[in-house]
Amino acid sequence: MVDEVLEGLNCQSSQEMPGKTYVDCTLGPGGHTEAILNASAPHGKVIGIDRDGAALKLATERLKGFKNRLTLQKGAFKELGKIMATLQIETADGILFDFGISSYQLDTAERGFSFQKAGPLDMRMDSESGETAADLVNRLPEKELTLLIKTLGEERWASRIASRIVRFREEEKQITRTEELENIIWRATPRKARHGRIHPATRTFQALRMAVNHEIEQIEAGLKAAISRLACGGRLVVISFHSLEDRAVKHCFRGWEKETKYRSKPKYINLYKKPITAGPDEISRNRRARSAKLRVLERAA
Ligand SMILES: C[S@@+](CC[C@H](N)C(=O)[O-])C[C@H]1O[C@@H](n2cnc3c(N)ncnc32)[C@H](O)[C@@H]1O
Repeated sequence: MVDEVLEGLNCQSSQEMPGKTYVDCTLGPGGHTEAILNASAPHGKVIGIDRDGAALKLATERLKGFKNRLTLQKGAFKELGKIMATLQIETADGILFDFGISSYQLDTAERGFSFQKAGPLDMRMDSESGETAADLVNRLPEKELTLLIKTLGEERWASRIASRIVRFREEEKQITRTEELENIIWRATPRKARHGRIHPATRTFQALRMAVNHEIEQIEAGLKAAISRLACGGRLVVISFHSLEDRAVKHCFRGWEKETKYRSKPKYINLYKKPITAGPDEISRNRRARSAKLRVLERAA
């Protein structure tokens, strides 16, 4: 949703010095950052943040031509306030969040995000710290596993899947591989439900990824940090893919708008009452876009 992101950020070319400052809190391989740098040339600057060292490497290579207008930083967006303070940047004119993982992460078997790729059951966006998905499935008691799969995955068969996981642990061994977990989930799913619109392991893998990376907590704290760092007239653009993510964004945006309605400053305006969704062309090029929802909040000038 590149055009929608640029429009949401109100990103335009300007000859004015020193140029606007944008923060891409989910840099990934750098697609949106590249578009922002092109659109805001010749003076616009971007701070690109990602907690995944491999994403930063990819983006560094892709964006090497923009060196003097780009700063890349490894870190979690929950720490946005600290990161900006370290870089001595008080406010930004546009801040972007594009939640979830990139195709690159999903397609790299060793990262363990995909049930379609045999690999270690890892799922950490930052491979250098925190518990892996394997640690979680081997540690959590059945009740907690059920709750996790049900709430973060909205999975109908959560209790059957959790029960199979625990049985596997008791009878066999630790679960360490994506293909092992996929097989357990497949067998836990009733035969008649195995051939639906999505693979039976989709929701459980998503729930584990969200838990491993504390995604909802990151979103709530990240948005809060972003709002306090937005310049007057600045825009916050958020793309979410999951109903829990979008719910958190909607809740924050509505809350800030309501809270600041009768204040003179700062005042926040939710620019679109309904989220923007991807058009058919984009969906045919990129299946992930079919569940994307884009929301924009403006800090009134
Ligand atoms: C969907 S991809 C972004 C793709 C990017 N917008 C592009 O156009 O290439 C999401 C990226 O955000 C990163 N990410 C997710 N949660 C994060 C967090 N809490 N802090 C920092 N980076 C995060 C992931 O590692 C991933 O690289």
